[in-house]
Amino acid sequence: MRRAVCPGSFDPVTNGHLDIIARASRLYDVVHVAVMINKSKQGLFGVDERIALIEEVTADLDNVVVESFHGLLVDFCKQRDIPAIVKGLRAVSDFDYELQMAQMNIGLSGVETLFVPTNPAYSFLSSSLVKEVAQWGGDISHLVPGPVLEALNSRLRQR
Ligand code: PNS
Repeated sequence: MRRAVCPGSFDPVTNGHLDIIARASRLYDVVHVAVMINKSKQGLFGVDERIALIEEVTADLDNVVVESFHGLLVDFCKQRDIPAIVKGLRAVSDFDYELQMAQMNIGLSGVETLFVPTNPAYSFLSSSLVKEVAQWGGDISHLVPGPVLEALNSRLRQR
């Protein structure tokens, strides 16, 4: 079984994330989507909500498994025998930090990182920007899957 992980905060999952997950699912037998828990970052959505949204929008991808993890990504990989991390690269500005993480991760444990160029339609897209635009009533319907749009609108109405 060839396994890979797509890690992230996914607060919330966007069409950009979904594009990378779907492409990874065509390259590997099993793709683990890892919602990494960062206790110092208060998210708009709780970890269980993020997982439920990712599960809903990846329901058509049979080989995708969604999990959360608190700890180092390389330990998530070690526990599941995952040799590869798949990351989207949106622009050159992503590269410096992503390269640092990739080099740290291979140095720590030998886990490889594979970079996939983001679909140009999503090269400016991030969960933070989506939340900011939605908060001020901007149209993000082309940037997130339907269930995420509903969840965002409902969460922002509660605030
Ligand atoms: O969606 P994000 O917030 O850009 O994802 C970053 C993430 C969660 C993939 C990264 O911070 C991560 O791997 N965190 C887990 C903790 C860890 O392994 N840190 C060392 C990275 S070299």
